[in-house]
Amino acid sequence: MKSPEFKTISAVAHPNIAFIKYWGNRDQALRLPCNSSLSMNLSGLETRTTVRFDPHLTRDVFVFSGEVVVGPVLERVSSFLDRIRSLAKLNVYAHIISRNNFPAGAGIASSASAFAALALAASHAIGLDLNEQELSRLARRGSGSASRSIPGGFVEWQAGISDADSFAFSIAPANHWDLVDLVCVLDSAHKTVGSTGGHALADSSPLQPIRLAHVQERVDQCRKAILERDFESFAQVVEEDSNFMHAVMRTSTPPLHYWLPETEIVLWNVLNWRKEGIPACSTVDAGPNVHVLVLSEYAFEMENRLAELSGVQKIFKASPGPGASLC
Ligand code: DP6
Repeated sequence: MKSPEFKTISAVAHPNIAFIKYWGNRDQALRLPCNSSLSMNLSGLETRTTVRFDPHLTRDVFVFSGEVVVGPVLERVSSFLDRIRSLAKLNVYAHIISRNNFPAGAGIASSASAFAALALAASHAIGLDLNEQELSRLARRGSGSASRSIPGGFVEWQAGISDADSFAFSIAPANHWDLVDLVCVLDSAHKTVGSTGGHALADSSPLQPIRLAHVQERVDQCRKAILERDFESFAQVVEEDSNFMHAVMRTSTPPLHYWLPETEIVLWNVLNWRKEGIPACSTVDAGPNVHVLVLSEYAFEMENRLAELSGVQKIFKASPGPGASLC
């Protein structure tokens, strides 16, 4: 029997910043999250991935930033591709070439854009034609936050109760609100406990049930604030939700302390500047770097102020971005 012809397919996807955080899974293997989350894609920052399935290969070959990848990262990519192979009912390995235009350790979670771009490129390369929901569900299996990098603009990931209804969708297009994310890099060293390990610890914190008790109200408040472009309400709920997540992290066993003293300096200053009337707020992911969200007309002023703070090594600037696309 003649083996099927496979096309070479490329896709681009953007990382995202969560306003309401995903922390902890109800089902770790399926990456079914404990709660719904909300985010914005980050334009200008991207992962580009090219995939070609090849019947002559005896294993997947993954090249990232020009280097052949082996070990646990290759295993994670291969087991993600196994899912695509099983959907397509084809047992063929692939060449994957991927590159980010932002450095590792920039305080920008790269697994979101990585698995969103891979889901789109690999599903097309193997001949599947998945719709946005199916792609978001698929990307979720690689990295939870990747589900949110499939749709464009401002995005909600509904937790759902099963694999079938845990996917993300756009609540507003990228041009809905002129928000800017100023990512303040305080430390670019690799974190010791990554988010996958962190999610597994969330249930060991006595504060996780308290975080979860009102998280849906925060999702609803944040969605409303975005839709109504109500910065005050948005700022209050975004900071509260980030603080809840870090309280859970700090009280899990073992505890996860991601912040540096400089993290607190940025958070403290942003709070004070908001009291002065500048529409800015902060959120922190699983690392020390701070994402400062500001209305675009104040971005220049805010960037200058942040650059003066002790410990701020570099600032990346991103606006609301599109969803994943073929390229
Ligand atoms: C703190 O999606 O990176 O950034 O599913 O294990 O890949 P895995 O975790 P990941 O977790 C993101 C955690 C977070 C909050 C968020 O983005 O919602």
